[in-house]
Amino acid sequence: MPDSPITVDVRLPSDWAAGEMRDDIRRSFANRPIVLPPKWLYDDYGSDLFDQITRLPQYYPTEAERSILVSRADEIAAVTGADTIIELGSGTSDKTRTLLDGFHRGGQLRRFTPLDVSEATLVEAATTLAERYDGLEVHALVGDFTRHLAHLPDGDRRMVAFLGGTVGNFYVEERHAFLGALSDQLRPGEWLLLGVDLVKDFQRILAAYHDVAGLTARFIKNSLTVLNRNLDADFDLGAFDYVPLWDDLEERVDMRLRSLMPQRVRIDGLDLDVALGEGEELRVEISAKFRPEKFTAELSDVGLDVFRLWTDENEDFGLVLARRVTEQA
Ligand code: SAH
Ligand code: AVI
Repeated sequence: MPDSPITVDVRLPSDWAAGEMRDDIRRSFANRPIVLPPKWLYDDYGSDLFDQITRLPQYYPTEAERSILVSRADEIAAVTGADTIIELGSGTSDKTRTLLDGFHRGGQLRRFTPLDVSEATLVEAATTLAERYDGLEVHALVGDFTRHLAHLPDGDRRMVAFLGGTVGNFYVEERHAFLGALSDQLRPGEWLLLGVDLVKDFQRILAAYHDVAGLTARFIKNSLTVLNRNLDADFDLGAFDYVPLWDDLEERVDMRLRSLMPQRVRIDGLDLDVALGEGEELRVEISAKFRPEKFTAELSDVGLDVFRLWTDENEDFGLVLARRVTEQA
């Protein structure tokens, strides 16, 4: 048992997976090309697959970000003086321990709030962290970071962490809306710590999303399993190829599922029949890569001032520490 009990605040309605997914997916299939929202990738199996992906040698972001956290955690703690850490899209919060250790060493860690849609993974991580730091108040939030930012806990000195490069999984307009909403939640002087994967040789980037073990393909195809289960659909996973593409213009990886043949799919939960042509693609997830100057300007647009941007030694990944400005321009 942890010394300090965790509290869990569930903001997702009990019928969330079926209810909200129904609206989302109806919209997805009403448009062409078909674009699926990535948050549905993270059921228990999807979260586990992502965790396995982070251990693949060619999936460099996790270890690159960890190496920055190892060398900068104490500095981040000292500069921010934060005593409340909120982590969005926290998953297993594995690397976060490195960050929290810095705050713990500084004697200033009081409260930790991880927020994720994946309840089982979140609760397990929250429990592990409460056991690790004696007296730490762990208040887990089961929620959607595109909807539930208003429920972030208050605190005197807060820092929000959004690690792993997850900010790259938004489309541009969504990213702007998300960063604006997040900035609105911060008081002047409060902090945001953001992990961003950087633009580099596209072959190395693509290799991180096309492993021979097929884990990424399984992760992306799991979106269809989730639809089969929650919306009573009959997608045949064998009837699709996983296709990762590098979009040089948008500087992002585009992860798609390509229909191998003309096929009809029944989605009973939507009372919908979908006809897919041979070669037609479902766009399941993007992973945008960033250039420091451009991203700094993007943050500045929403009232976030970049204080530091650290990279790992290969300059593969960036960790941005930004502060909410007093007056928004
Ligand atoms: N931060 C971790 C995990 C990244 S994986 C790391 O750096 O390794 C992305 C995480 O975001 C998953 O745990 C997933 O469940 C969560 N997630 C995805 N969309 C979300 C949403 N809309 N709201 C809350 N969590 C979300
Ligand atoms: C969570 N996110 C940052 C991962 C990424 O790299 O964009 C998701 C992922 N998709 C396939 N592999 C990893």
